[in-house]
Amino acid sequence: MTALTDYVNFEKRGRIGMIVVDYPPVNALSHAVRLGIQKGIEAAAADDAVKAVVLLCKGRTFFAGADITEFGKPMKDPGLREVLETVEGSTKPVVAALHGTALGGGLETALACHYRVCNPTARVGLPEVKLGILPGAGGTQRLPRVVGVERALKMIVSGDPILAKDGLSDGLVDEVVEGDLTEGAIAFAEKIVDEGRPAVKISERDEKVAAARGKPEIFENFRKSIARKSRGFEAPENCIKTVEAAVNMPFAEGMAEERRLFEELYVGQQSAAQRYFFFAERQAAKIPDVPADTKRRPIASAGIIGAGTMGGGIAMNFANVGIPVTLVEATQEALDRGIAVIAKNYATSVSRGSIDQATMDKRMAQISGTTDYAVLADKDIVIEAVFEEMGLKKEIFGKLDKVCKKGAILASNTSTLDVDEIAASTSRPEDVIGLHFFSPANVMRLLEIVRGKKTAKDVIATSMDLAKAIRKVGVLVGVCDGFVGNRMLAARGREAEALVLEGAMPEDVDRVIFDFGFPMGPFAMADLAGLDVGWRIRQGKGMTSEVPDSLCELGRFGQKTGAGYYKYEGRNAVPDQVTRDIVLKASKNAGIERRSIDDQEILERCLFPMVNEGAKILEEGLAIRPSDIDVVWVYGYGWPVYRGGPMFWADSIGLDKVVERMRSFRDQFGDQWEPAPLLERLASEGKGFKDYKG
Ligand code: 3HC
Ligand code: NAI
Repeated sequence: MTALTDYVNFEKRGRIGMIVVDYPPVNALSHAVRLGIQKGIEAAAADDAVKAVVLLCKGRTFFAGADITEFGKPMKDPGLREVLETVEGSTKPVVAALHGTALGGGLETALACHYRVCNPTARVGLPEVKLGILPGAGGTQRLPRVVGVERALKMIVSGDPILAKDGLSDGLVDEVVEGDLTEGAIAFAEKIVDEGRPAVKISERDEKVAAARGKPEIFENFRKSIARKSRGFEAPENCIKTVEAAVNMPFAEGMAEERRLFEELYVGQQSAAQRYFFFAERQAAKIPDVPADTKRRPIASAGIIGAGTMGGGIAMNFANVGIPVTLVEATQEALDRGIAVIAKNYATSVSRGSIDQATMDKRMAQISGTTDYAVLADKDIVIEAVFEEMGLKKEIFGKLDKVCKKGAILASNTSTLDVDEIAASTSRPEDVIGLHFFSPANVMRLLEIVRGKKTAKDVIATSMDLAKAIRKVGVLVGVCDGFVGNRMLAARGREAEALVLEGAMPEDVDRVIFDFGFPMGPFAMADLAGLDVGWRIRQGKGMTSEVPDSLCELGRFGQKTGAGYYKYEGRNAVPDQVTRDIVLKASKNAGIERRSIDDQEILERCLFPMVNEGAKILEEGLAIRPSDIDVVWVYGYGWPVYRGGPMFWADSIGLDKVVERMRSFRDQFGDQWEPAPLLERLASEGKGFKDYKG
């Protein structure tokens, strides 16, 4: 065995040379790895006894792609393209042995090899688009030559991986190895040598790209099919252009075009934001005072109290991953209704083809229901999702305290109430935590994990893991009104309503927020959630807000009643004269002379209060880091990921500029615009939230 670099060895097994990479955790193609591969090919070329080469990785996966931590720094030679040229240029056939996830540069490496074998679970994909870039080492030119243009477009533009073995008929892989992968790869290489098979270069294959030549409609139709989903993103269009280049240009020119389009994205703001977000999401899982090796409590069964909007959705998350879940309701009628809604949701997924009937049946079989709290006695976790009333929640937690086994996690899905007060109604506050799901709970990825004063560390660690297990992204937050997400949302909402009184119409505010990249603006969102919710809360607190109150008095509760801020033609929101009249009257009643408000002001007035609230949240220690807040906003509210999140976005503008604008708003509109001390301090030091260390 020869060490080629710190992470790459060269071994010989008879006639087969083996390049063995071991760079934990995911064999990212860092400089030492690239150099090792290059040297490995050279070593094989120099050794007459070697007739073929196997390239394989140790640990959990084949290369998971370029080393993202090297991005933004000067690239050290050799670059991946150069290395892959060497690999493809080898006259001795190179066989890639795939396991785990061969992603991005990992799949590109495999495609530069002359043959590929895989184990049955290996997945391959080009996820670069999710980082705001495109495959930059030949992936856009080689993949269409193997799987055809339409399939390649789908893989490159969605970024979603496929099972490698599903590419067997296309030659994406040449053999699926059932037993030991290394032995299988060596046997395959031996076979190649015995049969005298050549070093097949994908770059020289033309038939699949030729099939799409002179058919621009393939690309036009594809563009139309992704238009809605890719709105605002720059990378998908560049991805499509590279595949067009693969079809219309010779390989070398296509490679040059790929490089040009890659560079364009790589230096842009969007990819900076998306790369930042990749690490932000992973960072959120790390809790400074909860060691990574904290022993977890086992979660093999769950109980949910309340089978309403949230309870039903939460139950589906457990059923989807095979954890049996029992719903407990106040009445049989409410229970039947709740379970019927779940069945209907699954049936919709079946009719759309996203799951099959057998999967639906399997998931429904995980869900049971009762009105008897006694069934909760053996559950590992119980999540309460009843009406938002402190008295009721306390009563229920008192009951859980009596019924549940020792060590069970007792969670509340409250969106506004004090988790510490709820915990105090039990004799075991250390087992109590907030698990704040977002609606629709079976769809939205965010889970705010609300840590109470006494919540035990292993309850936090278990909850963070649980989030991942049910395919959510967990973010740890502290107890305050609205936690992180809704507290910042409220700050935006207040200003949106003020803008409407001062001169904008709801549709103006919504348009600006939509164009910024959100799926919808605050008023369309209020219509979707139901205006009656806020109305009842205001009534309970003895508060009023003329515009939404007037809409509610007319029975306009939003989409569900066919009208709210907008009137609805199907699901289409149409601006409505009734709303305009209410708005004009409200301005008059408030003694406000309406003025014209430009889009820039609307944007800043809506989003800067969120940044300011985020700064306060950090100061109060309710979020661990600015990037956690960004994760909340991207996964909970559809903040466009290509803008990183509110804190990253504020940094990208420059905190000094943000503060300057806020001061001018303060002079115009009052003290609510006073910049938070943290924001003020960072700005005055010429720093950003990125420099905040807690
Ligand atoms: N570069 C550097 N670090 C990486 C990495 C990469 N490509 N991929 C993962 N990591 C790190 C993570 O940051 C994490 O580090 P941490 O433990 O310090 O937080 C660690 O590896 C483990 O990652 P995950 O927590 O995500 O582990 P999972 O098992 O959940 O997932 C994975 C593994 C599916 C490989 C996932 O990490 C992933 O999707 N990685 C990114 C893949 C990707 O985007 N590749 C394309 C890169 S761009 C490229 O190749 C450009 C080329 O075209 C030129
Ligand atoms: P919902 O009104 O749809 O459902 C509540 C359910 O609880 C009803 O089915 C009711 O019959 C049941 N229930 C009431 N008392 C009960 C009892 N004693 N025992 C068992 N079941 C009982 O309410 P929704 O929207 O699901 O909200 C539930 C909780 O989730 C609230 O705390 C809410 O603040 C929170 N939440 C709601 C979100 C939303 O968008 N709807 C988002 C995030 C959190």
